[in-house]
Amino acid sequence: MNFHNKTVWITGASSGIGKELAIQFSHLGANIILSARSTDKLKQLCDQLPPGQHKVIPLDLSQPEQVLEYVTTNMADIGKVDILINNSGVSQRSLFLENDFAVYRQLMEVNYFGLIALTKAVLPSMVVQGSGSVVSISSVAGKVGSKFRTGYSGSKYAVVGFMDCLRAEVADKNIHCLTICPGSIKTAIAHNSLNEYGVAQNKAEESIENGMDVTAAVKQMISAIAKRKDEVVVGEGISGWAPTIKRFFPGFFNRMTAKKNYR
Ligand SMILES: NC(=O)c1ccc[n+]([C@@H]2O[C@H](COP(=O)([O-])OP(=O)(O)OC[C@H]3O[C@@H](n4cnc5c(N)ncnc54)[C@H](OP(=O)(O)O)[C@@H]3O)[C@@H](O)[C@H]2O)c1
Repeated sequence: MNFHNKTVWITGASSGIGKELAIQFSHLGANIILSARSTDKLKQLCDQLPPGQHKVIPLDLSQPEQVLEYVTTNMADIGKVDILINNSGVSQRSLFLENDFAVYRQLMEVNYFGLIALTKAVLPSMVVQGSGSVVSISSVAGKVGSKFRTGYSGSKYAVVGFMDCLRAEVADKNIHCLTICPGSIKTAIAHNSLNEYGVAQNKAEESIENGMDVTAAVKQMISAIAKRKDEVVVGEGISGWAPTIKRFFPGFFNRMTAKKNYR
């Protein structure tokens, strides 16, 4: 697939995977729409991208109804979108018995309802144009469960289910739906992960610091988009193999996750 002059809308473009997606897609000749809450970071990145028709659309996905209304109302001005990448997300590192209930809603608003709201606003124009790709970044935590992630994993399993159903519904409309399940990728995700009170824990973690290089991870993601895959796991070591281990050795996998504290 040639990305030259295609418009790629990336949420969570202010950091980590989303920022790298913006950089790599722009070097492939795509026009980028950058979204997240941190407008200054998005503008700064937008100015650094190679020349193109890039734009910044600040969005707070924790307010899905507002996102749906704003984007639906402005789709005519926003114009053609070829690839929507639902990448924004927030993780969690806290135990169920200690979590405030509100943390679950916080995670679902951004990781699930926000993603649905933006997809609902953008997809109709893809149907009218007769083409498009909807790409959602779930997680290996959307395929397997482990400690400290009851809310995060739930939200990411929900994304996998949503995408499987959406793919079936739009298969006859030339709309491609890809779910990407990253393992540990070296980004700011650990710092931004919520604690039991719904506040960023603001600390580094070994598994993320030793995780896959974000440049290499994003190359694999773009390749999966180009090949119009349905679902891919992108990760190295145990974080990449976890879904396969669970599928073939579920008892072993469950005993292993009960013993280990994967952070
Ligand atoms: N890194 C990993 O190991 C890993 C593994 C599996 C899955 N993932 C998934 O990959 C995606 C990207 O994560 P990352 O690793 O790049 O983490 P990151 O560096 O923490 O980036 C998260 C991005 O999400 C945006 N975001 C957070 N809350 C938002 C909100 N309310 N509205 C709009 N945007 C919001 C942030 O932008 P603002 O703060 O500016 O809003 C930021 O750009 C997430 O969905 C994550 O769950 C990552």
